[in-house]
Amino acid sequence: MATGTGFVVEWRDGFKIGVNQVDAEHRHLFTLVKSLSLDNVQDTLNELLDYVVTHFTNEQELMDHSGYPEFREHLALHEAFSSQVADFLASNSEWDDNRIMDLRRFLNKWLVGHILTHDLRFGRWYLDQGRNAATHMVAPVEKRKVGWFDRLLGRG
Ligand SMILES: [Fe+2]
Repeated sequence: MATGTGFVVEWRDGFKIGVNQVDAEHRHLFTLVKSLSLDNVQDTLNELLDYVVTHFTNEQELMDHSGYPEFREHLALHEAFSSQVADFLASNSEWDDNRIMDLRRFLNKWLVGHILTHDLRFGRWYLDQGRNAATHMVAPVEKRKVGWFDRLLGRG
């Protein structure tokens, strides 16, 4: 059992923005953050960062495709997050319970703040357009290779 990494934010329905795919992906992100522990940090972190890239790319595709007027600003927020994660990981400190707790706290705080402010704003706009909450959008594979991908995974 993970001990000492007690900072946990559970997914709740209040985090929903009303677009099913985005909500499902957000929920999975919370599950991955929650499962980070000293025993599995490398594998889970790889899976988490890979899923963040997938999620951002899909969300951006949905925004871009639907003509969301704040798309560029939103993209910049995703890029800023990616830089922050890259900075956190760049220190290359040894993993211990405190560092994992710091990472989880950062990820959870960012996710909650971002979802409840910026993603929610998109969700309201999106549904206001009369669009279906169940519209599903997966970015084409070639579009997944966005500029911050390598930075996020520390390959920049
Ligand atoms: Fe977002």
